Amino acid sequence: MYNSSNLWNSSGKKADPVWAQVTDYCQSHMHPPSKPNHGTITAALKASDEADLPPIFAAPAQAKFLALQAKAIRASRFLEVGALGGVTALWLLTLNPALRVTTVEVDPHHAATARKNFAAAGKDVEQRAELCEGAGLDVLPRLLEEVKAGKREPFDAVFIDADKQNNWAYFDMSVQMTRPGGIVIVDNVVRGGRIVDPRMKDDPGVKGATEVIEKAGADPRVESTVVQLCDEKGFDGMVLSVVN
Ligand code: DHB
Ligand code: MG
Repeated sequence: MYNSSNLWNSSGKKADPVWAQVTDYCQSHMHPPSKPNHGTITAALKASDEADLPPIFAAPAQAKFLALQAKAIRASRFLEVGALGGVTALWLLTLNPALRVTTVEVDPHHAATARKNFAAAGKDVEQRAELCEGAGLDVLPRLLEEVKAGKREPFDAVFIDADKQNNWAYFDMSVQMTRPGGIVIVDNVVRGGRIVDPRMKDDPGVKGATEVIEKAGADPRVESTVVQLCDEKGFDGMVLSVVN
């Protein structure tokens, strides 16, 4: 089951124990077990762990940040690339009672686990979750075509958290299917600071991160920043872009 001592990050370095302590303190005030979605999230984490999914889901505070972004822009449609066990999607769905989440997952076992976790969250949540099983490079072009043809409403927000080498392709397509004022977020773009280490420049994860940072920064369709995160998962960060 999830707790902040399950340290995992995309940097290969252990998180500073103070970061986990800060998480525990802040979460105890911001999201105590009395919150209505606590049981759903805890059950989904437990099921993901029992199904041997890797513990690389967004940290609870980060997932809640995404859910609050969706709330702040009054999102009704959210696209996630990389469902894993559906835990982040469940944060989005449970904190936004009218939100629909379309989530893409390439791994059949991860997708099956996410489906089970959505079902266990109850009919109301399950009905608002659309799981598209397949590779992002296959599913996103289809979604984009549907949006362009008027068969699918544009998205209000996107969270890209999948195979890092395709970050830019996912970002580019996401921008095209997000409404003006909508947001596109890309996870894991700081990678323990390795993005500024010249020795790491050929690492596929680092390349996927720097490509999206550099291209998003020069992209006139969006205004962007990088939010650095240090928490129980280590030192990482996300691109946050708003579509013009
Ligand atoms: C990894 C992937 C992630 O999306 C993440 O948030 C942390 C780690 C990984 O593949 O190692
Ligand atoms: Mg991630």
